[in-house]
Amino acid sequence: MGQIRPSIFFHSNLDSPDEWRASLATEFEDFTFSVGNDVASPESVDVALVWTLPDDGLQRFVNLRAILSLGAGIDQLDLERLPKHVPIARLVDESLTRTMVDYAKTAVYRYHRRFHFFERQSQNGRWTFISPTLTAETSVGILGLGEIGRAIALALQREGFAVYGWSRSPKHLAGIMTYTGGDGLKSMVGRSNIVLNVLPLTDETRCILCRELFAQFEKGTCLINMGRGMHLVESDLLEAIASGRVDAATLDVASVEPLPLTHPFWGHPDILITPHVAGISRPTTAVAMIAANIRRAMAGERLLHEVDLARGY
Ligand SMILES: NC(=O)c1ccc[n+]([C@@H]2O[C@H](COP(=O)([O-])OP(=O)(O)OC[C@H]3O[C@@H](n4cnc5c(N)ncnc54)[C@H](OP(=O)(O)O)[C@@H]3O)[C@@H](O)[C@H]2O)c1
Repeated sequence: MGQIRPSIFFHSNLDSPDEWRASLATEFEDFTFSVGNDVASPESVDVALVWTLPDDGLQRFVNLRAILSLGAGIDQLDLERLPKHVPIARLVDESLTRTMVDYAKTAVYRYHRRFHFFERQSQNGRWTFISPTLTAETSVGILGLGEIGRAIALALQREGFAVYGWSRSPKHLAGIMTYTGGDGLKSMVGRSNIVLNVLPLTDETRCILCRELFAQFEKGTCLINMGRGMHLVESDLLEAIASGRVDAATLDVASVEPLPLTHPFWGHPDILITPHVAGISRPTTAVAMIAANIRRAMAGERLLHEVDLARGY
């Protein structure tokens, strides 16, 4: 148990404050936990634990020491509205990574074993034999080799898939061919049967899944988007599917969530939508990193997984 008495402000439209309060109680003997407008003395708040920002931002917390995101990304926070001098950290959590890996494996196997094709065939009463292939014959190109992308790459490699990965800085991962830069991305997607995106959303990565990139795909490539909806130019995907460049897509994220009922992705025979469920963090496991960062903030130390605002992630 720590001896510090942090004052924590919590705001999320997704996460349960009660679960977070209970998990924090396993780490701190004494702490203040405020939710919404119910903050007795805003000037004593040390840490903001938030998914999105409250309507009035965080400006009233004049002595804030850290902003801790309840998500792996920070794109949901309006950076312009954040106090400039307060460090921000994103969430890295074992449950989140494991659920993302499970989702990636499920989506990859569905294409590898052609379940998407058999789903279409069974809807039309067709018995079409296609011989199964070995995992080594299916290549998966992963955009993003951070906490989550690296775990997905290693898990797929252990399953025997041919795995490639693309990141900003060079990476050395045993048995995985890695790429950087614009030309590296083109080469990687051109040799991938399945392209899987798990990048953060930044100015550089917005709209990265677009017509120009699809033009580099071999005909019949499958796409899995587990990053953010704004990575994908949705009309370009429809065009790429119509041309056969993209065979099918699995999309966990959309530019507008929930996806509007009138959206052409709903009911599309080659598109599987899941409602932003790929990765879920649990307070019971995530609290370890959050508590470590609260202790660091109280001690004036650098945060774990601190966001580099110049890079945007
Ligand atoms: N669908 C869901 O439920 C869900 C859940 C959790 C997370 N996510 C998404 O997953 C993302 C990644 O999370 P993470 O924890 O793995 O993030 P991370 O550890 O920060 O890793 C980000 C990776 O992307 C690479 N990257 C960033 N900008 C790039 C660029 N311009 N060009 C090439 N590579 C670039 C980074 O390269 P370097 O290694 O060189 O820095 C790094 O490998 C989140 O931001 C979020 O969008 C989705």
